[in-house]
Amino acid sequence: MSMKTKDVDFDIIENPAPSSHLWKQWKSMVNTEEWLSDDNSVTDLLPSLKSTCSVWAVTQTSDRNMVGSVVWNVYDDICFLGFYLLTPEYRGKGIGSVIWKQAMSMIPKDKVLALRGVLNMVPKYKAHDTPVDGPLLENFRINSRDFQTALRDYESLELLSQFIRCLFQDLVQVEIKE
Ligand SMILES: CC(C)(COP(=O)(O)OP(=O)(O)OC[C@H]1O[C@@H](n2cnc3c(N)ncnc32)[C@H](O)[C@@H]1OP(=O)(O)O)[C@@H](O)C(=O)NCCC(=O)NCCS
Repeated sequence: MSMKTKDVDFDIIENPAPSSHLWKQWKSMVNTEEWLSDDNSVTDLLPSLKSTCSVWAVTQTSDRNMVGSVVWNVYDDICFLGFYLLTPEYRGKGIGSVIWKQAMSMIPKDKVLALRGVLNMVPKYKAHDTPVDGPLLENFRINSRDFQTALRDYESLELLSQFIRCLFQDLVQVEIKE
């Protein structure tokens, strides 16, 4: 589908293949935004998960590069929308609103839509498609040595710590067994 907003021409496509160059561009942009929760597992796995759905704005040039995307996952009764993101030079031109609308039209109305938003987008999402407040997510950065020391101070709580790369290996093993 061809679209035009504020002098930008672009095409809209849905669900590109996991091997598409668009996912590589998306991954690099997610890294630039520093949206990696803990490691690369989400951006590595997401393109090929059966639950992943996506809408993309792409350039009309022969390379069909990423202009922006909305990416969400469908699990049972819930859609979790994890990534709404435009290439910086295309922001503020109305393109995000177009692909967002397309994504909303693809999400079944009988599903609960959940998302995690950056602070400045929270009131905007709240005013439109996701009016119910969820918990506030706080992020802390700590190096592993200080983390281990802190855990020792709270030994009586019997907290469990595990390196993310170990968790990721478990995940891969589960996938292989299936
Ligand atoms: C957020 C982003 C995807 C919006 O795309 P965009 O093309 O720049 O947005 P548009 O030009 O269509 O937006 C027009 C207006 O609608 C708002 N808007 C866009 N999408 C919206 C949505 N899904 N719900 C409510 N408001 C929305 C915009 O914030 C903007 O508001 P403003 O006029 O007060 O600035 C884009 O700016 C971006 O990639 N930002 C950096 C990454 C980011 O913060 N992503 C959101 C993570 S929660």
